Amino acid sequence: MLFGVGLGPGDPKLITLKAVEVLKAVDEVIVPGKLAESLVKHIVKPRVVEFPMGRSKEVTAKLAEELADRCVKEDIAFACLGDPMFYSTFQHLVEEIFKINPNVEIEIIPGVPSFTTVFSKIKKFIDIPMLVTTLKDDDIGCIVVLKATKPKETCEFLKKMGMREFYLAERMFMDGERIEKIDEPPERTDYFTIVVGMR
Ligand SMILES: C[S@@+](CC[C@H](N)C(=O)[O-])C[C@H]1O[C@@H](n2cnc3c(N)ncnc32)[C@H](O)[C@@H]1O
Repeated sequence: MLFGVGLGPGDPKLITLKAVEVLKAVDEVIVPGKLAESLVKHIVKPRVVEFPMGRSKEVTAKLAEELADRCVKEDIAFACLGDPMFYSTFQHLVEEIFKINPNVEIEIIPGVPSFTTVFSKIKKFIDIPMLVTTLKDDDIGCIVVLKATKPKETCEFLKKMGMREFYLAERMFMDGERIEKIDEPPERTDYFTIVVGMR
C-alpha cells in the first residue's frame, strides 16, 4: 500500500495524529526534500528524495518504478507539505505508478493545506466565494461548494460555470457518511454536505 501523508503547512505541531500513526507504522517513509524531513524527523527517520527543477520528471519516473513493485508487498508513505491532494509531487508520483501498475492501493492522510492556513496568519475570515489557483491554467477546473444542502440546484449552477463531473461528500467521517460521484444529484442533503464540480 502507498500512503500519501500530509504534513501540514510547516509547523510540526500541525501534523495530524493519524499522520503520526501512519508514519510510525509503515515500512518506509519517503520525503521530497529537507523541509519535509525536518517536519517528520522527530517521529521517524525518513529517506529523502530530492526533486530538483529540470530533473523532477526523471526522479519521479525512477521512484515510481521502484514503488510500483514494492508497494504491492510493503507499506510505504510519501509524506509531503500541506495536503498531498493539492498541487503536489505526490500526484505526479501516483500517476506514474498507475501507468506501471494500476492495482497499487493508495490511501491518503489529509494534511492542513497552506491555502487555508494563510487566513489564520492574515487574520481574515472568508465568507465569500474564493478561488485557489496556481495561475497556470486559464480555466477554472474545479469548484468546491460548501453548505451545499441543495445538490441538484448546485450542480445546475456549476454546469453553467463549465463543470461536467460532480461529487457529493455528505457527513464525511460521521455516521451516515456518503461519498459519491453523482449523475442524478439529490434535491436535499444534510447540512454537512460539500459538492465538488470538475471540468
Ligand atoms: C507544490 S505547492 C504544495 C501545496 C501543498 N500541497 C498544500 O496543500 O499546501 C507549494 C506551494 O504551496 C504554498 N505553500 C506551501 N507551504 C507554504 C508555507 N508554509 N507558507 C507559504 N506558502 C506555502 C506556496 O505557494 C508553494 O509555492
